[in-house]
Amino acid sequence: MNYLQINRANTLNGNIKISGAKNAALPLIAMTILAKNRVDIKNLPHVVDIKTLLKLLSNLGASCSDFSNGSDIISISTSALHETKATYDIVRTMRASILVLGPILARFGHCEVSLPGGCAIGQRPVDLHLKALEQMGAVINIEAGYIHATAPDGLKGCQIIFDKITVTGTANIVMAAALAKGITTITNAAREPEVVQLCEILNASGVKIDGISTGVLTIHGTDGKLVDIAEFSVIPDRIEAGTYLCAGAITNSELTLENANHKHLGAVIAKLEEMGNKISFTDTTITIHPSKVQKHVKIVTQEYPGFPTDMQAQFLALTTQADGTSIIEERLFENRFMHVSELQRMGADISLSGHTATIVGGTKLSGTDVMATDLRASSALVLAGLIADGVTNVHRIYHLDRGYDSLEVKLQNVGADIKRLNE
Ligand code: EPZ
Repeated sequence: MNYLQINRANTLNGNIKISGAKNAALPLIAMTILAKNRVDIKNLPHVVDIKTLLKLLSNLGASCSDFSNGSDIISISTSALHETKATYDIVRTMRASILVLGPILARFGHCEVSLPGGCAIGQRPVDLHLKALEQMGAVINIEAGYIHATAPDGLKGCQIIFDKITVTGTANIVMAAALAKGITTITNAAREPEVVQLCEILNASGVKIDGISTGVLTIHGTDGKLVDIAEFSVIPDRIEAGTYLCAGAITNSELTLENANHKHLGAVIAKLEEMGNKISFTDTTITIHPSKVQKHVKIVTQEYPGFPTDMQAQFLALTTQADGTSIIEERLFENRFMHVSELQRMGADISLSGHTATIVGGTKLSGTDVMATDLRASSALVLAGLIADGVTNVHRIYHLDRGYDSLEVKLQNVGADIKRLNE
């Protein structure tokens, strides 16, 4: 198995190109199930989760152009799609496979998807997805670990109010509603930029959607007619960008991110500025400038546009270097502090009480062997390794490879001493 070996960095310097957003690309790939044409998608990130979903689509009979040849454009045709069962072997490796449920059910009237099961950061049920589909007329049975969904009379538009804001739940129902008969209103919809892009592309393809980027979406279904989807480019990955901004902050460096959209990072940039960092930006770049001291902060993770849970681990690593005691509360997931014990092994002074971490700053970290437990925890350990004395080896980086495109190469290019080695 691969691992990353990191030596303490002096300051970093240079430019990092941000890749397309994994969490935008996943629903957009699932959306091709609603298309009557071959769809060209640009700026796809080369990460494992994307390859997994493309494999799932191919298993269902879709044809996808070769994505492994280094290009970041792919074309997908689902006209020959004949299978409607997303099997356990794929779904267990990527829970976002649940995103095919809405579109397949809307198009074919039946679908079987393995229940995704929990993951390291929490139980992560899909009850809200299923309840909304039942309200639209689906009949849902759970048997032997599979979701069996049928819509004998097709899906019908209706009023849906989500008990909790769910990102992939919103995306799933938007896609189901796109082909439904009549109008669907989703209240308490997710407003993440990744959901906004999905709605924008469907709206541009003839599926009229009102309220895009608000918490109330109104989708005018096509009553089963497939849509014509023009070529589009995936938005930049705001979490990848936020991770590299934290790399700049923790190493007191000047870094410029290219192909980054600062408008998607309002809460993250505000926190970095509150900590004393100076951030400048243009339409397509974000630059973080060196700041001698990182001030302590209080962070509470929330749904967009609040502070993103996907940036919690990275800021937890950063606040170990702050000038006082920081507090981070994780409100979205029940078990998203597994990076804490690894950071403690590096010498961090962190205490946990329920969903709240208290981080005493100014601690010197020492490099050692650490283990990644989930995608964002992996990047937090890399950030800690950049400033820890000695060598840090981050193991189980298959977690990292699910969502970061060439992370070690991007960091090497700005001066980090980091390499990918084989165990
Ligand atoms: C998406 O997951 C992201 N993944 C996650 O990013 C991200 O952390 C999360 O949204 C929150 O922003 C993708 O977009 C592929 P949710 P998702 O449904 O949609 C509860 C990463 O690091 N819930 O918004 O699965 C759930 O348990 C990943 O890139 C229900 O109770 O998250 C959680 O507590 C990690 N029932 C909360 O809602 C449901 O039916 C938010 O979950 C659905 C969700």
